[in-house]
Amino acid sequence: MPRPIIAPSVLASDFGQLSAECKRMIKGGAEWLHMDVMDGHFVPNITMGPPVLSCISKGVPGIFMDCHMMVAQPEKWVDDIADAGGSLYCFHIEATSDAVSLIRAIHERKMKAGVAISPDTSSTAITDDIGAAADMLLVMTVYPGRGGQKFIERCVPKVAELRARFPDKDIEVDGGVGPKTVGVCAQAGSNVIVAGTAVFGAPSPEDVIAELKASVAA
Ligand code: DX5
Ligand code: ZN
Repeated sequence: MPRPIIAPSVLASDFGQLSAECKRMIKGGAEWLHMDVMDGHFVPNITMGPPVLSCISKGVPGIFMDCHMMVAQPEKWVDDIADAGGSLYCFHIEATSDAVSLIRAIHERKMKAGVAISPDTSSTAITDDIGAAADMLLVMTVYPGRGGQKFIERCVPKVAELRARFPDKDIEVDGGVGPKTVGVCAQAGSNVIVAGTAVFGAPSPEDVIAELKASVAA
């Protein structure tokens, strides 16, 4: 299995202090920062977009921005996110009809490509050619749209199904993941853990990051 990576979700941070919040997480041991981009169409909520990400990448040099694109037309934002300093562009399979071409476009802009599936989407939506082309597969463990929701355990078998088919890929889980729920995700084969509330809401985020990492490495 690829190495464990903890990606705090900035959605749970103080948006008035974004760069400082990212630095705080990196200092606490986070390698990636998870950026939830929502457009008010694919999901009802609106969060942040390329101008905000651009400010963060300038304010936090070297940051790895794992951009989770909860947007209706993911083809439309590849250039803007690349220009803003995005490191990984993860789109939803439900939002596109040609995932392989989109992955190619993401790679042309020198970003890693991720493909996300929502709770009601089967792991078989990730066909062999899509999985082979992608760098990361994201199994949502809540309905996309907001932070702080309850972990949906019935999504976990999809992690195991994808891990069996794609042993070398990064497999990320996102939504309601924290010290209590990380174990089943890691056992199923997830190596990239997104955690918003569990990390930002903790008195000592570095302890939670270390705990999550240890659970995946175990
Ligand atoms: C939900 C987002 C998640 C969310 C995670 O739509 O994709 O990244 O912010 O936050 P928690 O860990 O609080 O569920
Ligand atoms: Zn997310």
